[in-house]
Amino acid sequence: MAVPILRVGELAPGHTKKFLLDCDGREIECFVLNVGGALHAFVNRCRHVPMGLDWVENQFFTEDGQFIQCATHGAYYVPDTGECIAGPPCGKSLVRVPIRIEDGVILGDCPGALPDDA
Ligand code: FES
Repeated sequence: MAVPILRVGELAPGHTKKFLLDCDGREIECFVLNVGGALHAFVNRCRHVPMGLDWVENQFFTEDGQFIQCATHGAYYVPDTGECIAGPPCGKSLVRVPIRIEDGVILGDCPGALPDDA
């Protein structure tokens, strides 16, 4: 079932917000990020070891805002595609969460089957 994440315009560029999805009775932590005005959402799980990317709560971007960085071993992911371009899971991608707008609200949907290592 789709879950309301935030209102349109609520998240400024360079900012992120975490949210939870209930998918087949399983709670999945996700995050949405504003990349230059475009919203993207991913499951909050590194593709190296299946653990959250943020060590400091809700801190996903590198200091320069260019990449999403895993706090555990430092993998770099491209914010709009979720592809890892440096670090242990290089070449793998974060699991994208489908989002859509309804009545000025951004909704997130379950991403479907997760990879075994995610
Ligand atoms: S757990 Fe993310 S790079 Fe190792």
